[in-house]
Amino acid sequence: MAAMLELDGVEAAYGESRVLFGVDLAVEAGKVATLLGRNGMGKTTTVRAVMGLLPATAGEIRFEGRAIRGLPPYRIAQAGLGLVPEGRHIFPNLTVRENLVATAANRRGEATPWTVQRIFEMFPALAERQTSMGALLSGGEQQMLAVGRALMTNPRLLILDEATEGLAPLVRAEIWACLERLKTEGLSILAIDKNVEALTRIADRHHILEKGQIVWTGTSAELRADPDLQRRYLGV
Ligand SMILES: Nc1ncnc2c1ncn2[C@@H]1O[C@H](COP(=O)(O)OP(=O)(O)OP(=O)(O)O)[C@@H](O)[C@H]1O
Ligand SMILES: [Mg+2]
Repeated sequence: MAAMLELDGVEAAYGESRVLFGVDLAVEAGKVATLLGRNGMGKTTTVRAVMGLLPATAGEIRFEGRAIRGLPPYRIAQAGLGLVPEGRHIFPNLTVRENLVATAANRRGEATPWTVQRIFEMFPALAERQTSMGALLSGGEQQMLAVGRALMTNPRLLILDEATEGLAPLVRAEIWACLERLKTEGLSILAIDKNVEALTRIADRHHILEKGQIVWTGTSAELRADPDLQRRYLGV
């Protein structure tokens, strides 16, 4: 069976400056895959290309068998891709509840769509702050809200770009627990994070990006067993 999301030789650039030199990546349905690599290697750029936020200049991007390269971002979101962007980007002048309602959509008619209530059950801290403005939340609360907001679009595949960056260990653990629960519920996930240790517990398959190309792909067991690989490409 073909993977749910497949990238094949994806290239992208910012103006004259080429950043992706042929990215190959696959996320299987119901699995957690990662995209790893040091700062500036092109992880966020890859995500932007998938979501249609930056045009891929070459290569194929397929989601559930359908070519999505070149589609506008709203069509890609409609197809079932949800993004928790690097830096969170919640609406600062909307309340927690308004942030969640703002993106709500169930375009593919899922039988049990995400509701504000279900998000609050997953993140009780958000329920307590539901009338607070986004700007007044702690970093951890903002991150939970960013995850909740992406879930409210009822994605079939959730992409998280550095969702635990800058968070306290306890809050991080809460985000990881959330991802494990989402995986159990059958959601497909592509996670980008510097916390390799946590990812090897949750993820099924890893991809390492180095200067705009995938240089290694393998399982969590393979990654854990190879400290040289981690030192060389991840600086850990
Ligand atoms: N808007 C932009 N304009 C020009 N160059 C950019 C832009 N955004 C990123 N770049 C460059 O593209 C390269 C890849 O950046 P990208 O943000 O994709 O890396 P990353 O792997 O996500 O890094 P990090 O781990 O720091 O988030 C870097 O060299 C970066 O300087
Ligand atoms: Mg990035």
